[in-house]
Amino acid sequence: MKVLVIGNGGREHALAWKLAQSPKVKSVFVAPGNGGTAADPRLRNIAITDFAALADFAQAEKVALTVVGPESPLAGGIVDVFRARSLRVFGPTRAAAQLESSKAFAKAFMQRHQIPTAAFAVFTDALAAHAHVDQSGAPIVIKADGLAAGKGVVVATTLAQAHEAIDWMLGTDDSRLAVQTHDGQARVVIEQFLEGEEASFIVMCDGRNVLSLATSQDHKRLLDADAGPNTGGMGAYSPAPVVTPNVHAKVMQEIILPTIAGMAKDGITYTGFLYAGLMIDAQGQPRTVEFNCRLGDPETQPILMRLKSDLFEVLMHATDGTLDQVDLEWDRRAALGVVMAASGYPTSPRSGDAITGLPGEMADACVFHAGTVAGPSVPLTSGGRVLCVTALGDSVKLAQQRAYDVLRGIHFDGAQYRRDIGFRAIRR
Ligand code: AMP
Ligand code: GLY
Repeated sequence: MKVLVIGNGGREHALAWKLAQSPKVKSVFVAPGNGGTAADPRLRNIAITDFAALADFAQAEKVALTVVGPESPLAGGIVDVFRARSLRVFGPTRAAAQLESSKAFAKAFMQRHQIPTAAFAVFTDALAAHAHVDQSGAPIVIKADGLAAGKGVVVATTLAQAHEAIDWMLGTDDSRLAVQTHDGQARVVIEQFLEGEEASFIVMCDGRNVLSLATSQDHKRLLDADAGPNTGGMGAYSPAPVVTPNVHAKVMQEIILPTIAGMAKDGITYTGFLYAGLMIDAQGQPRTVEFNCRLGDPETQPILMRLKSDLFEVLMHATDGTLDQVDLEWDRRAALGVVMAASGYPTSPRSGDAITGLPGEMADACVFHAGTVAGPSVPLTSGGRVLCVTALGDSVKLAQQRAYDVLRGIHFDGAQYRRDIGFRAIRR
């Protein structure tokens, strides 16, 4: 069988790498892919991004299954385009993807269906937003409504920061934050600040049945000790010890199942991966910080390193509506991935640095590429997050040691990476 993976990040490299291991899969196309998928002889990059052209390609090549990695094509309706041509695709429709593509939609949805989340208010008018912040005090969280490539959230510890964020998101000049919204209207969601420990809770949904993946946790801040600006994610590990069996059961009962049922009640069948970003307080009570309508990046890299089941078969069940027949099998070891980011990330990442020292195949580790392109002799950096060095180990600590051992052999000028990925799990 032939499969197609849409996207060009580390998540898509990991999906393609895992799908290629299935004895049923003959070819894996990645559109557009990156330097890592280009270098792997089992994978083939396809330089197409237009939805109709991708569907033409899938039809012409008789692709059996397409998996969509990133939020942007999902929010743009790629699943609707494929389904209209009776092509098998795993992901949410454009309507379902609003759970991620509009924070205002997601918050109103959670309120309507009593799904635990932070108290909030939505504003299009900057003056009203400023007044609300003055009334509420800091810390407070300001979020741009729409897709902003991970830049649209400011956790303001002071009122000055909160006011500045509102001006940046609702401003009228060129310095305004660039956001992809469903209707072109700039909005901010202002939220109560939640305390606790974060975890990523990802499930697959076939429209009826829900199957949870192994738990994970990412590190969104750029610097050690979770300091510095938010990024797309500087590293992740699985499992996340903060999600105890008791917390897991609560998340399923109070968040995941009501979300799928709520969407159905609102007339939207949810299919695809669903990612609930959680804040778990000291009492073990989970609240939803956000929904993503896709797998996390970099969470996918450690999660898929632990998955023993055949991902192609699982996805065929997921697109047949038979996930109830699947029992996922996981490696009992922990997996941990460390992101190596380009100089200047996250504000202005530099491209074109040569990447040397990449290892060959290893049994217990894998270097997934993200922002890389094939160069004349070695791959070159081409984006913010460049690599995710991922390893397995008998504990989070051992997986961490192994990942950093591999990482130390890899070089590119200006590489930034955190030295402490996994510290919360190890501290426990
Ligand atoms: P989001 O894109 O909504 O997940 O926000 C990005 C990050 O900002 C989250 O992973 C949290 O670390 C932080 N964050 C978002 N909302 C809140 C909140 N209400 N309270 C505390 N931290 C938050
Ligand atoms: N790692 C967080 C995300 O994928 O959005």
